[in-house]
Amino acid sequence: MKRALVPGTFDPVTEGHLDIVRRASQIFDEVVVAVAESPGKEPLFSHNERVQLARESTAGMQNVLVEPFDGLLVDFAQKMGANVVVKGLRAITDFEYEFQMNALNYELSQEIETIFIMSPPKFMYLSSSIVREIARLGGSFTQFVPSCVEAALIRKFGLERD
Ligand code: COA
Repeated sequence: MKRALVPGTFDPVTEGHLDIVRRASQIFDEVVVAVAESPGKEPLFSHNERVQLARESTAGMQNVLVEPFDGLLVDFAQKMGANVVVKGLRAITDFEYEFQMNALNYELSQEIETIFIMSPPKFMYLSSSIVREIARLGGSFTQFVPSCVEAALIRKFGLERD
């Protein structure tokens, strides 16, 4: 069985992330969405909240499961029996960062292969921080996130919606 990991901080999960997860799930037998604790990023949502939102958003995807992790990505991939890591590539600006992470992960473990899926144009400029910023400023972000995330952002920022 071919199992792949889609890692990230998912603060919160967006339609851009879900597009990558969905497409990975059509290529691999099983996809593990690995939600990193990422304390250095000082996430808006707690680790547990990010895991729950990712679980709710992927509930309709049969071969997708969501697991929290801390520590090294390569160690978690090994623990989960996944030898492929899937990452989304949006604009060209992602490339240098991903190139560096890929090289580092390769140094840490040659058994893990990283593959990239290009985001479609409509998600090219989407990121969790953009969604958080729009929510914080009271703008509309419905089209960027699944409904459970929309509700969570509304609760988090105490926003009024009609
Ligand atoms: N659609 C929309 N947004 C996307 C996206 C997509 N397809 N892919 C990435 N993004 C955005 C995220 O929303 C996030 O936005 P923000 O920072 O503006 O909020 C940004 O891109 C970065 O994504 P993030 O989820 O933080 O992933 P990352 O590429 O920074 O990597 C880990 C996170 C968990 C994979 C990485 O930090 C890691 O491996 N950590 C474990 C520790 C480790 O092993 N370190 C050594 C690795 S070299």
